Amino acid sequence: MAASTTINKAGTPIADRIENIRADFPILSRKVNGKPLIYFDNGATAQKPQSVIDAVDKCYTSQNANIHRGVHTLSQEITVEYEKARVTVQKHLNARYSHEIIFTKGTTESINLVATSFGKKFISKGDEIIISVMEHHSNILPWQVICEEKGAILKVIPISDSGELLMDEYKKLLSDKTKIVAVTHISNTLGTINPVKEIIELAHAKNIPVLIDGAQAVPHTSVDVQDLDADFYVYSGHKLFGPTGVGVLYGKEKWLNEMPPYQVGGGTIKTVTFEKTVYADLPLKFEAGTPHIAGGVGLAVAIDYVNEIGLDNIAAYEHELLVYATEALQKIEGLKIIGTATKKASVISFVVEGLHPFDIGTILDQLGIAVRTGHHCTQPLMQRYEIKGTVRASFAFYNTKQEVDEFIIGLQRAIKMLK
Ligand code: ALA
Repeated sequence: MAASTTINKAGTPIADRIENIRADFPILSRKVNGKPLIYFDNGATAQKPQSVIDAVDKCYTSQNANIHRGVHTLSQEITVEYEKARVTVQKHLNARYSHEIIFTKGTTESINLVATSFGKKFISKGDEIIISVMEHHSNILPWQVICEEKGAILKVIPISDSGELLMDEYKKLLSDKTKIVAVTHISNTLGTINPVKEIIELAHAKNIPVLIDGAQAVPHTSVDVQDLDADFYVYSGHKLFGPTGVGVLYGKEKWLNEMPPYQVGGGTIKTVTFEKTVYADLPLKFEAGTPHIAGGVGLAVAIDYVNEIGLDNIAAYEHELLVYATEALQKIEGLKIIGTATKKASVISFVVEGLHPFDIGTILDQLGIAVRTGHHCTQPLMQRYEIKGTVRASFAFYNTKQEVDEFIIGLQRAIKMLK
């Protein structure tokens, strides 16, 4: 087993201990195509610190058993670990109760759960659901499906050219017919940080609940669901330096209690007869089947890791990287940044006149630089900008200005080769 993760004291600026932080992520020392890896695809998935890898490894090497099902020691031990992980997530989001935290497969499943279950109970013909033009497909399709099933109508908040929600248009869309609002906290493509607190306040003034897609927010910023007064807040573990296949649905107790189960089966029940089933209380009512136990445990370790670095430190450091990279990119002839909101996370999408994003991405890959290219699962947003796709560089706290310099050199090389 590799050396244990370096403990970083929250409060110390990241730049002062960047080498220690990078050493915590074993993958960052590998080479890709003979070059040191520069990983700028954190929006797709983030890398894992050794402590997370070790925790998952330990789950399978010495703790493996099923949870909530056994009187034997292993089962009891891992149940305690898993429920401790739920409390870690609760504290991370500042939820009122740990039973308001439902473990899912990820953001996509969390949104499907709410759209299906909330939709079944609360959406009827002629009702309206509000989303925005910058949503990820995962926060469009589940609502589209429930609209089709129920005869409801999807309303879409437009954006400015800089990639900011047009709040006056949002206010106009809110009506007596609106049953739920579902918007992203931070756009995975544009990096825009949306005014989610204001969005929620405006909806609540009309007694409309709000779901916030936090998939791109939790790696970059602290989230307090009580302060936001969010009704639902969802994210994926793997973008928060945790394992893939585990995610979170935070839901206010009052909503989750009223909503019917999403999937049913083992674990979700109190009693079953062939005539009638009585479902379990929260959170088990929404957790059918054996969950990703090691994933939940690993996610809690990832949260501990991020907390030790400090989310304020992360936000400040990543902002510097964003400004540094933006300034350098703006100097490249023919390059246009897509998404220039005043408030942005460390995500930069761009197009280069006359060039296909895939070609740029392929050459960068030859240089060991990983970026995402394409529509980023936001085709309606691409249609809004009348483009097919972008190149996207998304930074995490383990990236450096030196890596940005290498990326700019590589990009200039790619452009020269392709033009
Ligand atoms: N939603 C992830 C991304 O933006 C996969 O890349």
